[in-house]
Amino acid sequence: MDALKGRDLITIRDLSIAEVAAVLQKAADIKKNPGAYKKSLDGKTLAMIFQKPSLRTRVTFETGMTQLHGHAIYLSPSEVGLGVRESVADVARNLERWVDGIMARVFAHKLVEDLAAYSRVPVINGLSDDFHPVQALADLQTVKEAAGTFKGMKLAYVGDGNNVTHSLLLAGARTGLSISVATPPGYAPRADVVTYAAEAGHETGCAVDVSHDIARAVKGAHFVYTDVWASMGQEDQAEKRKKIFAPYQVNAGVMKAAGTDPWFMHCLPAHRGDEVTDDVADSKRSLIFDQAENRLHLQKALMVMLMGD
Ligand code: CP
Ligand code: NVA
Repeated sequence: MDALKGRDLITIRDLSIAEVAAVLQKAADIKKNPGAYKKSLDGKTLAMIFQKPSLRTRVTFETGMTQLHGHAIYLSPSEVGLGVRESVADVARNLERWVDGIMARVFAHKLVEDLAAYSRVPVINGLSDDFHPVQALADLQTVKEAAGTFKGMKLAYVGDGNNVTHSLLLAGARTGLSISVATPPGYAPRADVVTYAAEAGHETGCAVDVSHDIARAVKGAHFVYTDVWASMGQEDQAEKRKKIFAPYQVNAGVMKAAGTDPWFMHCLPAHRGDEVTDDVADSKRSLIFDQAENRLHLQKALMVMLMGD
C-alpha cells in the first residue's frame, strides 16, 4: 500500500481500517519471509530519540533496520535534550536533512506531534505519556495469530487506564476486536479516547466497555491484558498506586473468572507479583514473548511502508 509512504504514525487514529489491515498483512508476510525484505530499506537511516528507558522498543527498531539493510542511530535521553538543549522544531529540521525517518519515545505527547509537524520525514511514536501505537499494532498481530480473527473476539484490559490502554482501544476500533476495561476509580482511560473508540468501533463491530468491575470486564474474554500500575514518569506515585491497584492484580482467580481459558497478554516490562502473578505470566496461555517478538516484525512492516521507496 503506497498510501502510507511518507506518512507519520503518531496514534492509531492516523490509520484507516484498511491501512491497519495492510500493515498487519505486511507484518505477517515479513515474519514468514524475512529474506524477501533483506534490502527493503537499503541505505536508509532511522534516528531514534529516547526520553525514557527501553528494552523492546530500542532493540526491535534497531534490529529491524539492520535486517532491512538500513541503519539506526540511538540518541539517549541526555543526548538530544528535546526542547531543552534545542527546540523541538530545530531538532526536527536538522534530522530531516540527514535521516529517512525518526522514531521518538517521549513524555509529553505534544513533543512527538511537534516532531512530526516540523519534519518532512516520517515520525513514529515509540511511546508517549498518552499512546503506544506500535505496541498495540504488534498486539493485534499477536491476537490475530492466536485467534485467527478479530470478529467476535473480546480483550479485557485490567489495571491502569494508560497509554497502552488508549492504543488498545483505538486498535480495537480499527479491527473489530472488542475491548472491556476495568480500572480503579480515578484511573479510567481518557474519556475522549473511549468515546472515539466506541463511535469508530461501530464500523468494525468493536464493542467498548469501561468500568471499575473486573468480573464484568473479563467475563467471556478471549484475552486478558494488563500493564504496570505506575508508568515511566510516575515513579513517585508507585507506592500509593500499589495499594489502590492491589485488587486489580491479574492472577489465577481473575483468569478463571473469564470462563473461557483466556490468553494472557502484557506489553512488558512486567512487575511480577504486582499487576500479574508468575503463574499467569508463565502459563501455557501467556503470549507475552510472542507480543515482544511481534514488535520486530510489525515495526519492520511499518518502516517499509512509511520509509520505503
Ligand atoms: N513494551 C515496550 O515498549 O517495552 P520497552 O519499554 O522495553 O521498549
Ligand atoms: N505504560 C507503560 C508501558 C511501558 C512499555 C509505561 O508507559 O511505562
